[in-house]
Amino acid sequence: MRTLNLHQLATFQIVAKHSSYVRAAAELHFSQPAVSAQIRLLEESLGVKLFETIGRKTHLTRAGEELYLYSQKIFFLIDETLDSMDALRSPHYGRLGIGADTTFGTYVIPGLLGKFHKLYPNVQIELEVVNPEYLIDALVHNRLDLVIMGNYAVEVPVFVAPVLANELVLTAPPTHRLAERRAVPFLELSREYFLVREPGSGTRESLELAFHEAGIPLQVSMQMGNNSAIKQGVAAGLGIALLSRVALDIELEIQRLVILDVEGFPLVRQWRLVHLQQKHLSATARAFKAFLLQQVDQRLSAAPHTSQGTHTRRKDASL
Ligand code: PGA
Repeated sequence: MRTLNLHQLATFQIVAKHSSYVRAAAELHFSQPAVSAQIRLLEESLGVKLFETIGRKTHLTRAGEELYLYSQKIFFLIDETLDSMDALRSPHYGRLGIGADTTFGTYVIPGLLGKFHKLYPNVQIELEVVNPEYLIDALVHNRLDLVIMGNYAVEVPVFVAPVLANELVLTAPPTHRLAERRAVPFLELSREYFLVREPGSGTRESLELAFHEAGIPLQVSMQMGNNSAIKQGVAAGLGIALLSRVALDIELEIQRLVILDVEGFPLVRQWRLVHLQQKHLSATARAFKAFLLQQVDQRLSAAPHTSQGTHTRRKDASL
């Protein structure tokens, strides 16, 4: 293999810069014979003469001029390479690929990313907000660094940590027949029609499970692929819905929607931070993980540990 000795090349560059072996030796803190020996070895390995001495002056030969141009490019690239490796060791640079399920990704993570961005303004964040089924696929195939989701039923070893409790509430327009009632029995829901999320949604899974456990059929009026469409549909009187409390702040404030007080609700799921156990997290991803775990909301602190992808009910719930 042909090689180029970088140490000799660096010496060559300094001799060329000064057009003098003596001044190069002074800069390098070597003896002049040591510098000459380096240049001779380089000339031998390349098979060309790099300097010629005319009178008392040292000049670059044609080959020397050419090598000087290349040496500048080579050392520039080496600098760039070292900068890039430094950046990868630092949490302040680089790319962060994260994924979140539809609800967390829409209503919780933007605020968290705003705070993270203030601390790490140069990190390039790429966020995927998608259905949990897609998230699991992206996680398992190593397309994302970290994901936040309510379900971590994956077949590979993963790191899992609770991030936030997800209270799922029944919502309806203020004019709904159950809006003013308190402690409505679950059985009353058998008369209601529901707007539900798409298959694969954790919210939908919890609703179906609650009805299954109560032994009553779930009547679906319409399936809609996102929370905003469901809120519009509920407000328009198309049915009631189970939605995350975090998705309802504005609608509750302007009294466009209300939360129904039905026994057994809210259902509580748990959002979790998940990454592949074997994943080598970059410094940036490690910084985000630490940041997220620090931010675990005190008000909605972690719910009791639940089995994967399922929910718990309030202790006082009766069906
Ligand atoms: P979803 O997920 O927004 O897709 O329903 C939420 C969850 O799994 O808790």
